[in-house]
Amino acid sequence: MAAPVVDAEYLRQVDRARRALRALIASKGCAPIMLRLAWHDAGTYDVNTRTGGANGSIRYEEEYTHGSNAGLKIAIDLLEPIKAKHPKITYADLYQLAGVVAVEVTGGPTVEFIPGRRDSSVCPREGRLPDAKKGAPHLRDIFYRMGLTDKDIVALSGGHSLGKAHPERSGFDGAWTRDPLKFDNSYFLELLKGESEGLLKLPTDKALLDDPEFRRYVELYAKDEDAFFKDYAESHKKLSELGFTPR
Ligand code: HEM
Repeated sequence: MAAPVVDAEYLRQVDRARRALRALIASKGCAPIMLRLAWHDAGTYDVNTRTGGANGSIRYEEEYTHGSNAGLKIAIDLLEPIKAKHPKITYADLYQLAGVVAVEVTGGPTVEFIPGRRDSSVCPREGRLPDAKKGAPHLRDIFYRMGLTDKDIVALSGGHSLGKAHPERSGFDGAWTRDPLKFDNSYFLELLKGESEGLLKLPTDKALLDDPEFRRYVELYAKDEDAFFKDYAESHKKLSELGFTPR
């Protein structure tokens, strides 16, 4: 589909949608699933074939029924009324804006948002998102395919500061931190503490401890929240722009 024309009216709708998203997220406590939706739309990107990415294709049944997207239809449906009220905004922009607002309103860093993503009706094949049961080589395979780095992998894993796993969706259970509606560096603090009663650590989370290059960043982010927020904001912006070149 054609790139949207980002004129004054488009920007006005982005501003209004941003406010509507803040209200929705505050009233429903749905920041975690909004961040996960944004990440799963963008994280299908393949830098070699330039397919997938932040293009709104996750709105189609063909894609939201992929195993790794279980539960995300809830977020897609919650955003439909905001799309209907701000029809100029593409799905691709709206989903990424929702991810950015989710981080901001839960106390995380401000992630710069540049509008103009085009929507696509082409869904990627299943299997482009990471498998939580695997280790560091798999994480690198998947994130390098997106064109991202080791630092991006660790910083973005800090997104698990928010939310929890649901047995009926992923087979995993529980939150990563004591306050899953607050975005902070507690994911890294908990990771370094080792097993804690009632908190979740996926095999891919633990892989960040075993690999020396990853662990360097885990230790930095655990002791320096400002460093985490700065790197997270940069990595999240990159993620939100996969397959999109802002003008
Ligand atoms: C939830 C895996 C990276 C944000 C989950 C869940 C799994 C998972 C299995 C539980 C889903 C459920 O049962 O509802 C992974 C793996 C990653 C990864 C293997 C590879 C590094 C990320 C990234 C972000 C992110 C990069 C965002 C920057 C979230 C959030 C939730 C979540 C916010 C909670 C959703 C909710 O509470 O409904 N992830 N994830 N994840 N993930 Fe990740």
